[in-house]
Amino acid sequence: MAFDANRPDLTVGVIGTGAMGRGIAQVAAAGGMQVLMTDSRPGAAQEALDFIGKMLARAAEKGGMTQDEASAAVRRIRIVGGPADMKPCHVVIEAIVENLEAKQQLYAELEGIVAPECILATNTSSLSVTTIASKLKTPQRFAGLHFFNPVPLMRLVEVIDGLQTANWVSDALMVVGKRMTREPVRLKDAPGFLVNQVGRGFTLEAAHLVYEGVSTFADVDRVMRDVGGFRMGPFELMELTGLDVTQPASELIYNQFFQEPRYRPNLIMRSRYEAGVLGRKTRRGFYEYDAEMKAIVPPEPPAPAARPESVWVSPAQSRGYAALIELLKKRGARLEIASKPSAKALTLITPIGEDATTCAVEQGLDPKRTVAVDTLFPMVKRRTIMGTPLTDPAYREAAHGLLAADGVPVTVCRDSPGFIAQRIVAMIVNIGCSIAQSRTAQPADIDKAVTLGLNYPHGPFQFGDVLGPERVYKALSAMYRIYGDPRYRPNIWLKRRAALGVSLLTPEP
Ligand code: NAI
Repeated sequence: MAFDANRPDLTVGVIGTGAMGRGIAQVAAAGGMQVLMTDSRPGAAQEALDFIGKMLARAAEKGGMTQDEASAAVRRIRIVGGPADMKPCHVVIEAIVENLEAKQQLYAELEGIVAPECILATNTSSLSVTTIASKLKTPQRFAGLHFFNPVPLMRLVEVIDGLQTANWVSDALMVVGKRMTREPVRLKDAPGFLVNQVGRGFTLEAAHLVYEGVSTFADVDRVMRDVGGFRMGPFELMELTGLDVTQPASELIYNQFFQEPRYRPNLIMRSRYEAGVLGRKTRRGFYEYDAEMKAIVPPEPPAPAARPESVWVSPAQSRGYAALIELLKKRGARLEIASKPSAKALTLITPIGEDATTCAVEQGLDPKRTVAVDTLFPMVKRRTIMGTPLTDPAYREAAHGLLAADGVPVTVCRDSPGFIAQRIVAMIVNIGCSIAQSRTAQPADIDKAVTLGLNYPHGPFQFGDVLGPERVYKALSAMYRIYGDPRYRPNIWLKRRAALGVSLLTPEP
């Protein structure tokens, strides 16, 4: 099929001009394409056009384009009466209500109107592209074109091949996406596509941690910001998005994957969703809010003045041992160097994916004096420690006081395989690997989508490479062994690259 996605007069139809449709129309017009747009609610398309006019005028004020370019872009948009007027379109993008029947009905109507070579694309965020296409007479010309909100600011667009999508269709949409000044990423249809799938690792594992009593919402957010390097903690993020969006999306992805345990939702999110405690939009979610809508975050307790008499560090994890010894030397701690701790020594361990209890028992250490320190991440902005259920509070306080003595805050969590950050990041890496293993997308494209669409400090593969594939594999294996829950089983993509000692980005020809 000779479809010329570069033709100067390319005409894009946009159906549904709400939050997403208006953004799509704006970037299409700004990218030089002709736009026809329509909405079933009277007046909605005009509202959208007025909005786009303001947005482009603001972009011109900020120097993003000239005033003339902004005006020309607005002139390229024409409001039409309905789908029946989409005949001149080369591509039609639908951004109507997220409802399968409504979308299928619209495409059935469009098929009788547009030219046979017109591409039909959906901006659905949670429905299967393959399923929407299943009622079409010509499913080959149908694909997903998934933008992110707000469209003009979020450069990522996922170009999704349904089971029956012809190659030329997605090839053309990659070009159209670029002409819209987006960063298109190509993938095969999968529940949650790329970004929403990886995002489950961040939010759901955080919810599981709190549900299990390991930590609090505020502490998980602090750790993920300071230790993981995320701009926002998982609960802060869910507050902003709203559980009315996050919870149904999570349940849908879980069920579309036939209850894959990796995506298992959690009751603490579901119960808030049921109760209408949704986040900022209801002024209460995981946090409460003051009159200025500032989250009321419980303050951190001050670092204790306590210090240990002497410290013994387990050499079981050589890298963690070296990193912790270096830190403790700087703190002037009295270090014991014998092969076993003395009778009173604070006993520090550096588990990867294990909990303090398993480590202490397996290494024959006294659980009352054992405190675990997370050394997988740099211990620069925040440190995380945890004890066994038997750890003497005096020893835990001494460890806390010592590790916080240079002013770096310390988060104390309850015993947990993989503390907080190890668990959440390992889940993100594992999900990324499962997406690559199922050939949904290329590893580099998954990383690109995640950094652009979610603003994570790294995509799953780079995260894994920075931490070390063998250590992430070790973390997941330990979590899987300790919990006996297939949720934590390491994906084979990760296992193979960890065994071979190569980057997680390594493809398989
Ligand atoms: P919205 O509610 O802001 O806008 C939907 C618009 O479609 C409304 O103006 C409505 O009047 C119109 N509409 C409904 N049924 C119609 C029909 N049969 N024909 C013509 N117009 C119709 O919704 P939003 O947020 O813009 O979402 C639209 C689509 O984009 C949905 O499929 C959604 O899942 C998807 N999406 C939404 C994202 C978001 O963050 N809001 C992100 C990515 C995708």
